[in-house]
Amino acid sequence: MAEFQAVMKLAELPLASMRAVTLGGRELVICHTREGVFALDNICTHAHARLCEGRLRATRLVCPLHGASFDIRDGRVLGPPAEVPLPSHALRIVDGTIEVALAAAAPGGSAGLPEAPPSQPPAERP
Ligand code: FES
Repeated sequence: MAEFQAVMKLAELPLASMRAVTLGGRELVICHTREGVFALDNICTHAHARLCEGRLRATRLVCPLHGASFDIRDGRVLGPPAEVPLPSHALRIVDGTIEVALAAAAPGGSAGLPEAPPSQPPAERP
């Protein structure tokens, strides 16, 4: 099981705001709402957009590129065009510090990033 690691002070993240952080080479978005504080992958599962540049409406996170929306409490899709849930991560607050334990990497690559196409040597011609 992943260990909790400090990512920022709660005091640095006002209510109804979000911020991108990097943990273990993975980019996350930390969201602070009346429902609590939540950590999710920062890259939209539809294409490659940074969700921290979108909008946070209560517990709904809206992608800035095509408008897909996710529930920040569990990463489930609330609105298209995304179909794949957003990976979410365990979070706790210890003495005013936000700590996150990373979930397993998303299938197909870390942080939902598309995998690079396999490089192939040029075909030999007879
Ligand atoms: S990249 Fe997020 S909805 Fe398309």
